[in-house]
Amino acid sequence: MQVAGSSALITGGASGLGEGTARRLAAAGASVALLDLESSPGARIADELGGFFVPADVTDPAAVAGAVAAAAEALDGIDICVNAAGVAPAHRTIKRDGTLFPLDLFEFVVRVNLLGTFDVCRNVAGVMATNEPGEDGERGVIVNVASIAAFEGQVGQAAYSASKGGVAAMTLPLARDLGSIGVRVLTIAPGIMDTPMVGGMPEEVKESLAKIHVFPQRLGRPDDFAALVQHCIENSLLNGEVIRLDAGARMGPR
Ligand SMILES: NC(=O)c1ccc[n+]([C@@H]2O[C@H](COP(=O)([O-])OP(=O)(O)OC[C@H]3O[C@@H](n4cnc5c(N)ncnc54)[C@H](O)[C@@H]3O)[C@@H](O)[C@H]2O)c1
Repeated sequence: MQVAGSSALITGGASGLGEGTARRLAAAGASVALLDLESSPGARIADELGGFFVPADVTDPAAVAGAVAAAAEALDGIDICVNAAGVAPAHRTIKRDGTLFPLDLFEFVVRVNLLGTFDVCRNVAGVMATNEPGEDGERGVIVNVASIAAFEGQVGQAAYSASKGGVAAMTLPLARDLGSIGVRVLTIAPGIMDTPMVGGMPEEVKESLAKIHVFPQRLGRPDDFAALVQHCIENSLLNGEVIRLDAGARMGPR
């Protein structure tokens, strides 16, 4: 699928990897809609890109259905969906002082990262099913975001890794479900990326995190991620795959 002239919905589009993707796709000629929390700077960024802001909390099914419908109307359809909304709070299963991982925190992480991603996927699939097929009968491309923590979660990441493992695991069945309507589904599993999610950390912590990357030993940038999203969109033989974007990193226990 070509990016120029397409319509793209990007969740988490008001920050970090989602914002970088919105900027790259808009620069390449796509019309963009950003789905993010009402409290986010989504409206300002959408204005800057000549796009639309469709505020929603991905854990609220009615809000997700409304935002996807609003995006489809504003963009006159949805060809591309990138699910980058996510959260990453950490907590040990049991802390040294005996505090147990709060179940409501675990549930919150899974609701945002896994259920939220799936809810957007199913609503977007409903819209894509009505698209006119393009080359190869293609009607759409969905790119979800996992993490290398799906495979090598560190101390404190039980909930985050479970949620991202779910995103990785559903990639193939989603691709199989949606193949019949001409929609491809891919997942990108990033290493450590320099976004507001890790941006609050002190420089020396960021430098030590970057060292888990084999080469180059720098944090990933939102545009490294966005460039891979663009390739996923343009290469119609990529489907049902989880792609690591991590400069060769394999995370240790902490
Ligand atoms: N930064 C990294 O190192 C890294 C590594 C691997 C994976 N990831 C994943 O990449 C994705 C993007 O992360 P990022 O680093 O750009 O983080 P970020 O915090 O910069 O952006 C996340 C965005 O998601 C939005 N969001 C959070 N909860 C939401 C909800 N309930 N409904 C709607 N929007 C919501 C936030 O408002 C924010 O704009 C996340 O899924 C994250 O887990 C990030």
